[in-house]
Amino acid sequence: MVKIAIVVGSTRPGRNGEAVARWVYELAGRRSEAQFELVDLAEFDLPLLDEPVPPSMGQYSKEHTKRWAAKVAEFDGYVFVTPEYNHSTSGALKNALDYLYAEWNNKAAGFVSYGSAGGTRAVEQLRLIAAELQMATVRAQVALSLFTDFENFSTFRPSAHHEMAINTMFEQLVSWSRAMRTVREQSQIAATYRS
Ligand SMILES: Cc1cc2nc3c(=O)[nH]c(=O)nc-3n(C[C@H](O)[C@H](O)[C@H](O)COP(=O)(O)O)c2cc1C
Repeated sequence: MVKIAIVVGSTRPGRNGEAVARWVYELAGRRSEAQFELVDLAEFDLPLLDEPVPPSMGQYSKEHTKRWAAKVAEFDGYVFVTPEYNHSTSGALKNALDYLYAEWNNKAAGFVSYGSAGGTRAVEQLRLIAAELQMATVRAQVALSLFTDFENFSTFRPSAHHEMAINTMFEQLVSWSRAMRTVREQSQIAATYRS
């Protein structure tokens, strides 16, 4: 069965991201075709990228990098739960993505965002970042509004219609996560022939 991480993409005290990610995890739990796990960036306490060698070289030297890499490597796909900060994703999520390379390659990704315009600008930027990390991003996404899906911009009360969008996103993500396993196998075979 494919394994999918639900990544909590904000770390600030009082963040809305935790409630959103828990809702994603609860809805994911109703599905049987994949295993889902909550992965909270706050628990990894990553400093601003402090590896001397670029991550694409795969020479991780710090314990926090190795711990983060081991967790990310466990999964076939990811749901990035992202806020919108200044029309982009959070610095914490960008930093966590920057830390690694091979662990993201040939994996699938979906997005759940929130903000005054549904966080859609953050997702547009994340799609570009994901492409550079060789991730396949699914089309369906969930865009939650601070005005209509939160009370007082802070208590999460999602409108019912988002469940349809999230189920479509899960279907696409599970399907592509399975397919990307084949892609990883093929690229390993090709690498063996090259060496
Ligand atoms: C630094 C910062 C910048 C923000 N910029 C935007 C923005 O450009 N567009 C937007 O819709 N919301 C913006 N917001 C509002 C956030 O989307 C909202 O506060 C959200 O709850 C933040 O996610 P978090 O609570 O999980 O940290 C910003 C919030 C912060 C803290």
